[in-house]
Amino acid sequence: TANAMWGGRFSSGPDAIMQAINASIGFDQRLYAQDIAGSRAHAAMLAAQGILTDKDAGAIREGLLTVLSEIEAGNFTFRVEHEDIHMSVEARLTEIVGEAGKRLHTARSRNDQVAVDFRLWVRDQCDAAIAGVTALMKAFLSQAEAGADWIMPGFTHLQTAQPVTWGHHMLAYVEMLARDRSRFEDARRRMNECPLGAAALAGTSFPIDRHATAAALGFDRPTANSLDSVSDRDFALEFLSASAICAMHLSRFAEELVIWSSAQFRFVKLSDKWTTGSSIMPQKKNPDAAELLRAKLGRILGATVALFTVMKGLPLTYSKDMQEDKEQVFDAADTLMLGLAAMTGMVSDMQAMTENLRAAAASGFSTATDLADWLVRELGLPFREAHHVTGTLVALAEKKGCDLPELTMTEMQSVHEGINQSVYSVLGVENSVISRQSYGGTSPVQVREQIARWQGLLR
Ligand code: ARG
Repeated sequence: TANAMWGGRFSSGPDAIMQAINASIGFDQRLYAQDIAGSRAHAAMLAAQGILTDKDAGAIREGLLTVLSEIEAGNFTFRVEHEDIHMSVEARLTEIVGEAGKRLHTARSRNDQVAVDFRLWVRDQCDAAIAGVTALMKAFLSQAEAGADWIMPGFTHLQTAQPVTWGHHMLAYVEMLARDRSRFEDARRRMNECPLGAAALAGTSFPIDRHATAAALGFDRPTANSLDSVSDRDFALEFLSASAICAMHLSRFAEELVIWSSAQFRFVKLSDKWTTGSSIMPQKKNPDAAELLRAKLGRILGATVALFTVMKGLPLTYSKDMQEDKEQVFDAADTLMLGLAAMTGMVSDMQAMTENLRAAAASGFSTATDLADWLVRELGLPFREAHHVTGTLVALAEKKGCDLPELTMTEMQSVHEGINQSVYSVLGVENSVISRQSYGGTSPVQVREQIARWQGLLR
């Protein structure tokens, strides 16, 4: 049988396979609350403008509330013939209220309807992401507060570079996450324009009030071009892009946790709550949550690329290709929220093994730069030359199988005769970190200043 929505032009219904490829109800039912909110705002506006009678608008309002409670109670049967959430809600509404339900679609199209529904949904996800990122920032900040002066090795190329503080390392993630948060805030601000009333693509001949529906749905203003309104998915792409960058940050810390919790590093102890055992090897405590985070976040980048690929070749305005936006964004949003929650738990519960961190910081000639700086400062050597002298001393220590502070004065002076006893004061890891007081540097004084700044911003 022909379709109830557009059967006039059709003599037969769709092939079953056509239904399977065409229907989005299997996934876009997630937009039911947004769809009903959009319809309620639309109907109220139509009545205020005299396009619908108050009686019809009242029936629609009541009917939509009934549909909402049916869906929420799980008493709603989604049928593939109704294709998507928009037609499912309208069909059920018409079953409940009759004639009035058929008037709801006046001055509206599914094109502007889906655009507004999806924007409302993505806008909520921006809020959820902002909250999730903020919680994780607080967890990193607490770690920074606990260990503002715990010394650990800083790495470049994953080779020991210079001693840094635990607090400094934790705050590096607070900075990254702050940028993530501002990307979500920024995207949210930009997407907060209402496409409802663009109708199919060209606007409508009915005297609608787009400012009223925009305000009713919490938008800052209506979108200004009807063609753009129904063909734009930038809001979804921006959400995905911000999510992908945030996910990349989470994945990097996940990788650090995997390394740090290994028996070779032993920098952190992960809580039992975020690890699993082995079915065969009794000693094992595997960092599964971190590994899964590292892997799962690839889905977010995948979704981002997928939607860019869907959009890049589409002529204006709406094309059915765009229906493929939703599953990607749903999956990416779910993955991001789960990842943020899991990471917040892991960060809150992880325990730094401070002795191991300190010992590791002192190994690998980590204070060689301090020695070179001393040669510049105390003996007036050009930095390049100081670098060479220090390199020779490192090679000597390596040959001897000791660390820099264990070289004797005679050995030091065999490389440069000007070196004196005071050099030993800069070879310890404490002095090394304390000395790095440049703005944004790793010294505990600087770290505490940054902690105070973030406390002000986050609490
Ligand atoms: N289910 C569709 C989507 O998600 C809704 C819009 C359909 N519009 C249309 N003219 N076929 O994109």
